[in-house]
Amino acid sequence: MSTSATHLPDALTDDRAKGVQLEEILEGVVARLGPGSLLPSERQLTDRYHVARMTVRGAVDALIARGLVYRSPGQGTFVAQPRFAQSEALTSFTEDMRRRGLRPGARVLSHDVVAADANTAIQLEIEPGVAVVRFERLRTADNEPMALERAHLPLERFPGLDELDLGNVSLYDELRRRWDTEIHHADQRVYAVIHHDPDAALLSITPGQAGFRFVRLTRDAAGVPIEYVESLYRGDHYEVRAHLHRGAFADAAGTSDTGGS
Ligand code: GLP
Repeated sequence: MSTSATHLPDALTDDRAKGVQLEEILEGVVARLGPGSLLPSERQLTDRYHVARMTVRGAVDALIARGLVYRSPGQGTFVAQPRFAQSEALTSFTEDMRRRGLRPGARVLSHDVVAADANTAIQLEIEPGVAVVRFERLRTADNEPMALERAHLPLERFPGLDELDLGNVSLYDELRRRWDTEIHHADQRVYAVIHHDPDAALLSITPGQAGFRFVRLTRDAAGVPIEYVESLYRGDHYEVRAHLHRGAFADAAGTSDTGGS
């Protein structure tokens, strides 16, 4: 505990709100310490900076809302794991978690065969009414809920997928192993969402918390759609990363803007 209290400035200044300064100080502590480290206690901070307990609590709450720390009742406040990045790499949930040294999990919430509705049919490039396997899974990392996935795959292409136990398995591994199908590329859209119950309860978050909705259409090497899936991710554990190139498109746009006719 003493390690996290060292390197703390001795006092706050008078020129800015104390809560804001405390938040900045704690952010510095988080940056220096590794995930799982204990932060100075609210009591230590109150005594050191001569501020109200409420002020300290507010600063800690702000860091919790930003996903930087978490409170463990009776034990204190700890540095959270860095956010999981959804990037441009086409990875599976299992791969993402393993790369971080976490144990991926999947709990099947529903699993059935339905007739493709109009949107699913358009996405999967099949006729409306054709049988699709639909399933919903709660994805976990070291048993902690991370995301809800609602997937649709054509039954004709994956016979037996409706019977397969999808608990704690990688869908992409199964597609490779059983149906010799390799995921090749995908289009994914990201939307902001507010998680309400029952989703919030399944994700173990307070209803009203913000999160992400990823809608992904995956294809094989020939471009044939394989999987149409909506995934709801916790906003406190995820960030979306993009690698941006200023390439030919930017030049072309600039030229056409000024070029005129
Ligand atoms: C991610 C994607 C899903 C995809 C899943 C497959 O979570 N958002 O669209 O279905 O990965 O992961 P796995 O192979 O671990 O089941």
